[in-house]
Amino acid sequence: MVQRSWSPKVLVGSRVVLRRHAPENVAAFLRWYADPEIARLARYQATPMRPEEIERFFAARVVGPDALAMAVHVRGTDRLIGTCAFSQLDGENGSALYHITIGESDAWGHGYGTEATQLMVDHAFETLGLHRISLNVFEFNERAIRAYRRCGFQIEGRSRESIWRDGRWWDEIAMSILESDWRIRRDGRSAAGEDGAADDQADLPEAVGAGPSDRIRKTIGRWR
Ligand SMILES: CC(C)(COP(=O)(O)OP(=O)(O)OC[C@H]1O[C@@H](n2cnc3c(N)ncnc32)[C@H](O)[C@@H]1OP(=O)(O)O)[C@@H](O)C(=O)NCCC(=O)NCCS
Repeated sequence: MVQRSWSPKVLVGSRVVLRRHAPENVAAFLRWYADPEIARLARYQATPMRPEEIERFFAARVVGPDALAMAVHVRGTDRLIGTCAFSQLDGENGSALYHITIGESDAWGHGYGTEATQLMVDHAFETLGLHRISLNVFEFNERAIRAYRRCGFQIEGRSRESIWRDGRWWDEIAMSILESDWRIRRDGRSAAGEDGAADDQADLPEAVGAGPSDRIRKTIGRWR
C-alpha cells in the first residue's frame, strides 16, 4: 500500500484516534455501507451500495495512493467506528472536499464525529496548508450539520429540493471553512485552554480574500 507523506500516520484527540486504514478494514466498510440508514443520510441514491461497489470504493478512495482517508478509532478501546476523508484535492486553489461516516450507529452522538472532523480540519490547515474545506450535507441530517458547525463550518448555500427522501423533497446544504476562520477559532481555543473541539457556535467573520500562498502551492505540489 503506497502512502504519501501528507497522509499522517496518526492524529490523536481526547475521544478518538485517527489512523491510516488497514486493508482488513474493508470488512467494516462492507457492513457500514450496506446499512440503509447510512445510505439515507449520506448517499444520493437511497439504496445502499452493492458489495462490489464498496470494495472498489475502498481500494480507490480509502487505501489507494491518492486517498487521504483516515480510520476513526475510539481512544482507549481502539474500536474502529468509522472513516473520514478529503477528496477532490485541488492544488491550484488550495481546497478539498470533506467526508465522514461513523459507520457504527451505536457510536453516534458521543462526540466522536465532531472530534474526528476537528482533527482533520486542524491537519488540513496546520500541516497541509490548505485554504478552504467544503462539504455537502442533506438538510435533514441535523446531527451532521451540528457537528460541522461546531468545528467552524458555515452554511454558504443550498441546492433547493435536490434530494427526494422519505416521501418529500429536501435541500442539499453546502458548508465550508476557510483557513482564516479556522485561525480565529484556533486562537480562541488556545486562549480558552481547550484541547479538542471548540464550544461556541457563533457565526464567524466573512471570508478574507487571499490567493493560495507559496506554502500552499509547495505543500500541494507534493500531492501531484
Ligand atoms: C454525522 C456524524 C459524523 C456525526 O458524528 P457523531 O459522533 O454522531 O456526532 P457528535 O456526537 O460528534 O455531534 C453531534 C451533534 O448533533 C447533536 N445530535 C446528536 N444526535 C442528534 C439527533 N438525533 N438529531 C439532531 N442532533 C443530534 C449533538 O448534540 C451534537 O451537537 P452539539 O455538539 O451541538 O450538542 C455521524 O453521526 C455519522 O457519521 N452519521 C452517519 C453518516 C452521516 O450522516 N455522515 C455525514 C454525511 S454528510
